[in-house]
Amino acid sequence: MDQNDLGTDIEKVLVTEAQIAHRLTEMASDIDRDYQGRDVLLVGVLKGAVMVMADLARALHSRVRMDWMAVSSYGSGTKSSGVVRILKDLDTDLKDQHVLIVEDIIDSGLTLSWLLSNLRSRGAASVEICTLLRKPEAVKVELDVRYVGFDVPNEFVIGYGLDYAERYRNVPFVATLAPHVYQ
Ligand code: IMP
Ligand code: MG
Repeated sequence: MDQNDLGTDIEKVLVTEAQIAHRLTEMASDIDRDYQGRDVLLVGVLKGAVMVMADLARALHSRVRMDWMAVSSYGSGTKSSGVVRILKDLDTDLKDQHVLIVEDIIDSGLTLSWLLSNLRSRGAASVEICTLLRKPEAVKVELDVRYVGFDVPNEFVIGYGLDYAERYRNVPFVATLAPHVYQ
Protein backbone atom coordinates (compact mmCIF):
# COMPACT_ATOMS: atom_id res chain seq x y z
CA MET A 1 0.00 0.00 0.00
CA ASP A 2 1.22 3.51 -0.76
CA GLN A 3 -0.11 7.05 -0.67
CA ASN A 4 -1.86 6.64 -4.04
CA ASP A 5 -4.07 3.95 -2.52
CA LEU A 6 -5.37 6.40 0.05
CA GLY A 7 -6.84 9.08 -2.19
CA THR A 8 -7.17 12.36 -0.32
CA ASP A 9 -7.25 10.78 3.18
CA ILE A 10 -3.68 11.67 4.09
CA GLU A 11 -2.91 15.19 5.22
CA LYS A 12 0.80 14.94 5.91
CA VAL A 13 3.35 12.14 6.09
CA LEU A 14 5.28 12.56 9.35
CA VAL A 15 7.57 9.54 9.19
CA THR A 16 8.31 7.71 5.92
CA GLU A 17 8.70 3.99 5.42
CA ALA A 18 12.45 4.41 4.86
CA GLN A 19 12.85 6.52 8.01
CA ILE A 20 11.05 3.88 10.08
CA ALA A 21 13.18 1.07 8.67
CA HIS A 22 16.41 2.98 9.27
CA ARG A 23 15.50 3.99 12.83
CA LEU A 24 14.41 0.45 13.74
CA THR A 25 17.81 -0.84 12.64
CA GLU A 26 19.49 1.69 14.96
CA MET A 27 17.20 0.80 17.86
CA ALA A 28 17.77 -2.92 17.26
CA SER A 29 21.53 -2.49 17.48
CA ASP A 30 21.14 -0.56 20.77
CA ILE A 31 18.97 -3.39 22.10
CA ASP A 32 21.42 -6.07 20.90
CA ARG A 33 24.24 -4.23 22.70
CA ASP A 34 22.30 -3.58 25.95
CA TYR A 35 21.00 -7.13 26.33
CA GLN A 36 24.15 -8.95 25.26
CA GLY A 37 24.27 -12.39 26.86
CA ARG A 38 20.78 -12.07 28.33
CA ASP A 39 17.56 -13.72 27.25
CA VAL A 40 15.00 -11.13 26.22
CA LEU A 41 11.24 -11.45 26.14
CA LEU A 42 9.63 -8.94 23.81
CA VAL A 43 6.11 -8.06 24.94
CA GLY A 44 4.00 -6.46 22.21
CA VAL A 45 0.91 -4.48 23.09
CA LEU A 46 -1.93 -5.38 20.71
CA LYS A 47 -2.99 -4.25 18.27
CA GLY A 48 -0.96 -1.15 17.50
CA ALA A 49 2.47 -2.63 18.13
CA VAL A 50 2.13 -5.44 15.58
CA MET A 51 4.16 -3.71 12.83
CA VAL A 52 6.86 -2.38 15.17
CA MET A 53 7.21 -5.80 16.78
CA ALA A 54 7.46 -7.62 13.43
CA ASP A 55 10.08 -5.28 11.97
CA LEU A 56 12.07 -4.61 15.16
CA ALA A 57 12.26 -8.32 16.02
CA ARG A 58 13.63 -9.09 12.55
CA ALA A 59 16.18 -6.27 12.77
CA LEU A 60 17.64 -7.78 15.96
CA HIS A 61 20.56 -10.16 15.93
CA SER A 62 19.62 -11.45 19.39
CA ARG A 63 17.46 -14.53 19.74
CA VAL A 64 14.38 -13.29 21.51
CA ARG A 65 11.05 -14.69 22.57
CA MET A 66 7.86 -12.83 21.78
CA ASP A 67 4.60 -12.62 23.68
CA TRP A 68 1.53 -10.39 23.42
CA MET A 69 -0.84 -8.54 25.67
CA ALA A 70 -4.05 -6.74 24.88
CA VAL A 71 -5.24 -4.01 27.22
CA SER A 72 -8.00 -1.45 27.10
CA SER A 73 -7.89 1.80 28.97
CA TYR A 74 -11.21 3.12 30.10
CA GLY A 75 -11.67 6.79 29.50
CA SER A 76 -13.89 9.40 28.01
CA GLY A 77 -13.58 9.57 24.24
CA THR A 78 -10.06 9.29 22.89
CA LYS A 79 -8.18 10.10 26.12
CA SER A 80 -7.00 7.21 28.25
CA SER A 81 -7.83 7.33 31.94
CA GLY A 82 -5.06 5.20 33.40
CA VAL A 83 -7.65 2.61 34.46
CA VAL A 84 -6.57 -0.40 32.49
CA ARG A 85 -8.23 -3.75 31.90
CA ILE A 86 -6.36 -6.79 30.57
CA LEU A 87 -8.16 -8.25 27.55
CA LYS A 88 -5.47 -10.82 26.76
CA ASP A 89 -2.74 -11.68 29.21
CA LEU A 90 0.75 -13.05 28.53
CA ASP A 91 1.30 -16.79 28.15
CA THR A 92 4.76 -16.45 29.71
CA ASP A 93 5.70 -16.51 33.40
CA LEU A 94 7.76 -13.34 33.94
CA LYS A 95 9.70 -14.54 36.99
CA ASP A 96 13.37 -13.53 36.50
CA GLN A 97 12.75 -12.56 32.87
CA HIS A 98 14.23 -9.54 31.08
CA VAL A 99 11.15 -7.95 29.57
CA LEU A 100 11.12 -5.35 26.82
CA ILE A 101 7.70 -3.85 26.19
CA VAL A 102 7.22 -2.94 22.52
CA GLU A 103 4.76 -0.12 21.85
CA ASP A 104 3.56 1.86 18.87
CA ILE A 105 3.07 5.22 20.54
CA ILE A 106 3.10 6.84 23.97
CA ASP A 107 0.61 9.65 24.38
CA SER A 108 -0.41 10.34 27.99
CA GLY A 109 1.79 7.46 29.14
CA LEU A 110 -0.95 6.28 31.51
CA THR A 111 -1.39 2.89 29.87
CA LEU A 112 2.32 2.20 29.99
CA SER A 113 2.87 3.30 33.58
CA TRP A 114 0.14 0.88 34.59
CA LEU A 115 1.61 -1.88 32.42
CA LEU A 116 5.09 -1.27 33.74
CA SER A 117 4.11 -1.69 37.38
CA ASN A 118 1.88 -4.64 36.54
CA LEU A 119 4.69 -6.52 34.78
CA ARG A 120 7.26 -5.57 37.45
CA SER A 121 4.98 -6.98 40.16
CA ARG A 122 5.24 -10.41 38.50
CA GLY A 123 8.88 -10.76 39.51
CA ALA A 124 10.60 -9.88 36.24
CA ALA A 125 14.35 -9.29 36.50
CA SER A 126 13.93 -6.10 34.45
CA VAL A 127 11.21 -4.32 32.49
CA GLU A 128 12.08 -1.68 29.90
CA ILE A 129 10.08 0.13 27.23
CA CYS A 130 10.67 0.52 23.51
CA THR A 131 8.30 2.70 21.50
CA LEU A 132 8.36 3.80 17.89
CA LEU A 133 6.63 7.12 18.56
CA ARG A 134 6.29 9.48 21.48
CA LYS A 135 4.03 12.51 21.83
CA PRO A 136 4.96 15.59 23.90
CA GLU A 137 2.43 14.78 26.69
CA ALA A 138 4.39 11.62 27.47
CA VAL A 139 7.34 13.65 28.65
CA LYS A 140 5.23 15.02 31.54
CA VAL A 141 4.66 11.67 33.22
CA GLU A 142 7.30 9.95 35.30
CA LEU A 143 8.06 7.21 32.79
CA ASP A 144 11.51 5.99 31.93
CA VAL A 145 11.39 5.02 28.26
CA ARG A 146 14.65 3.38 27.25
CA TYR A 147 14.18 3.31 23.46
CA VAL A 148 12.28 5.94 21.45
CA GLY A 149 12.08 5.98 17.66
CA PHE A 150 10.67 9.41 16.91
CA ASP A 151 9.15 12.30 18.81
CA VAL A 152 6.01 13.45 17.00
CA PRO A 153 3.85 16.54 17.49
CA ASN A 154 0.67 16.41 19.54
CA GLU A 155 -1.58 15.39 16.65
CA PHE A 156 -3.58 12.27 15.97
CA VAL A 157 -1.53 10.00 13.72
CA ILE A 158 -2.29 6.81 11.82
CA GLY A 159 -0.34 4.11 9.99
CA TYR A 160 2.26 1.50 10.77
CA GLY A 161 -0.12 -0.22 13.19
CA LEU A 162 -1.91 2.88 14.41
CA ASP A 163 -5.57 3.17 13.58
CA TYR A 164 -8.43 5.56 13.31
CA ALA A 165 -11.63 3.56 13.97
CA GLU A 166 -9.69 0.34 13.21
CA ARG A 167 -8.66 1.60 9.76
CA TYR A 168 -5.28 2.67 8.33
CA ARG A 169 -3.24 0.15 10.38
CA ASN A 170 -1.70 -1.25 7.18
CA VAL A 171 -0.49 2.12 5.93
CA PRO A 172 3.31 1.63 5.80
CA PHE A 173 4.19 5.15 7.00
CA VAL A 174 3.02 7.44 9.82
CA ALA A 175 0.75 10.31 8.83
CA THR A 176 -1.99 12.69 9.88
CA LEU A 177 -5.44 12.40 8.33
CA ALA A 178 -7.24 15.07 6.33
CA PRO A 179 -10.08 16.75 8.25
CA HIS A 180 -12.77 15.29 5.92
CA VAL A 181 -11.98 11.79 7.21
CA TYR A 182 -13.26 12.76 10.66
CA GLN A 183 -16.52 14.20 9.36
P1 IMP B 1 -1.71 6.59 26.51
O1 IMP B 1 -0.21 6.73 26.42
O2 IMP B 1 -2.15 5.84 27.75
O3 IMP B 1 -2.41 7.92 26.37
O4 IMP B 1 -2.28 5.72 25.33
C1 IMP B 1 -1.48 5.23 24.33
C2 IMP B 1 -2.31 4.38 23.38
O5 IMP B 1 -3.34 5.16 22.77
C3 IMP B 1 -1.41 3.91 22.25
O6 IMP B 1 -0.85 2.65 22.54
C4 IMP B 1 -2.35 3.89 21.07
O7 IMP B 1 -2.99 2.64 20.99
C5 IMP B 1 -3.36 4.98 21.38
N1 IMP B 1 -2.98 6.26 20.71
C6 IMP B 1 -2.42 7.35 21.29
N2 IMP B 1 -2.19 8.33 20.40
C7 IMP B 1 -2.62 7.85 19.20
C8 IMP B 1 -2.63 8.40 17.86
O8 IMP B 1 -2.22 9.54 17.56
N3 IMP B 1 -3.14 7.59 16.89
C9 IMP B 1 -3.61 6.35 17.14
N4 IMP B 1 -3.60 5.78 18.37
C10 IMP B 1 -3.12 6.54 19.40
MG1 MG C 1 -0.67 0.78 21.72
